[in-house]
Amino acid sequence: MKAVVFHGIGDIRLDDVPEPEIKEPTDAIVRITASAICGTDLHLVRGTFTGLKPGTILGHEGVGIVEEIGPDVRNLKVGDRVVIPSTISCGFCSYCRSGYYAQCDNANPNGPSAGTAFFGGPEIAGGFAGLQAEYARIPYAHVGLVKLPEQVTDDEAIMLSDIFPTGYFGADLAEIVPGDTVAVFGCGPVGLFAIASAQLLGAGRVLAVDANPSRLEMARAQGAEVIHFNEEDPVEAILRLTGGIGVDRAIDAVGVDAERPHFGPAAEQGRQLAEQFAREVQQIAPEPHSDGLHWRPGDAPSQVLLWAVQALAKAGTLSIIGVYPPTHQFFPIGKAMNKNLTLQMGNCNHRKYIPHLIDLVKNGTVKPSKILTQIEPLTSAIDAYKSFDLRRPGWVKVELKPAIQRV
Ligand SMILES: NC(=O)c1ccc[n+]([C@@H]2O[C@H](COP(=O)([O-])OP(=O)(O)OC[C@H]3O[C@@H](n4cnc5c(N)ncnc54)[C@H](O)[C@@H]3O)[C@@H](O)[C@H]2O)c1
Ligand SMILES: [Zn+2]
Ligand SMILES: [Zn+2]
Repeated sequence: MKAVVFHGIGDIRLDDVPEPEIKEPTDAIVRITASAICGTDLHLVRGTFTGLKPGTILGHEGVGIVEEIGPDVRNLKVGDRVVIPSTISCGFCSYCRSGYYAQCDNANPNGPSAGTAFFGGPEIAGGFAGLQAEYARIPYAHVGLVKLPEQVTDDEAIMLSDIFPTGYFGADLAEIVPGDTVAVFGCGPVGLFAIASAQLLGAGRVLAVDANPSRLEMARAQGAEVIHFNEEDPVEAILRLTGGIGVDRAIDAVGVDAERPHFGPAAEQGRQLAEQFAREVQQIAPEPHSDGLHWRPGDAPSQVLLWAVQALAKAGTLSIIGVYPPTHQFFPIGKAMNKNLTLQMGNCNHRKYIPHLIDLVKNGTVKPSKILTQIEPLTSAIDAYKSFDLRRPGWVKVELKPAIQRV
């Protein structure tokens, strides 16, 4: 079968690989009908989140049809249409039962303390084969697959695999109560869903920060008040727009590949921090393999954390859903401590949110296809990755469609 395979930092290829097989009684094999490219894949290919074994199939977002099931999967049958939660969880340990699916004790073969297991990730995340492929093996399929109603299309459902639940998780962690003013840093697909989710939870105002005009335009279309960080100092703008108080809640939807401002009034402050940021990049990504154009790590790993802490009101909440690798150790703890901030963060507990979010899509409350900007065949995946990596105008969320259409 065809799959997007990681060969090394900055080196991904569309390869022919063997089809997966059932290994455990709780496994299922899914024929993928839709996958997608995510900002997390970019960290892996750029080398800002390392440890992926060459030969690993990439991708952790998927929708498909159950092709085969093990004898201990009792809630599904062959032919069911399903969405695949990106993180893998057993459904029976105490963490899963409490909703902390991303901290499952059993899913990661490296042991209960090894951290979140997810598809198409590094060895420490279990080294599971990813979903940018024609077929995938899904462990613990009784919770690792969620049946889709026919009213929800594949183009909508692919957003329910990772990015909508993650945006919602970000808004949930931010402790938003009706009326709150919320800042969302990053207007990529995850940030756009964080904006929608903050609104669902009753945010009074949402301020959205990025430097990509087409993404800021999408945020504005959702009703956010947009701030371009290469045209104005985002912290100054947030403080001015909030009467000097700051925001009640901030969501980091950028992560380790953050950029510093290169133009406008914040550029000077960015230059002053450039050396510190360069040391961070060196520690996080010692071996980048950029060809000069593609797969360039962000130049300011802790920029969003600094801005968010500065822009929050006293006693506000910072929710971090942007991904940082375990090697990232830079956070303005003193400033956060002295403002009595609450910090919440983590990998999304996808399985906790997906059933509720399916309902919101089914009843028309949320229209996720507004954020889907490209549908490409899996065979064009490498070019699609490159366009998404460069954040070309209009390239926000890219769905990949495998060609096989068996009946
Ligand atoms: N916690 C989770 O479970 C989870 C799940 C999915 C994705 N993620 C993470 O969410 C993040 C966003 O994912 P995405 O797919 O939207 O990625 P993306 O790369 O498409 O979007 C990132 C956006 O941040 C913007 N940006 C860069 N520097 C910035 C800065 N200093 N201030 C404000 N904006 C800045 C970029 O212009 C871009 O639009 C990634 O780190 C991804 O790994 C986390
Ligand atoms: Zn993702
Ligand atoms: Zn578990």
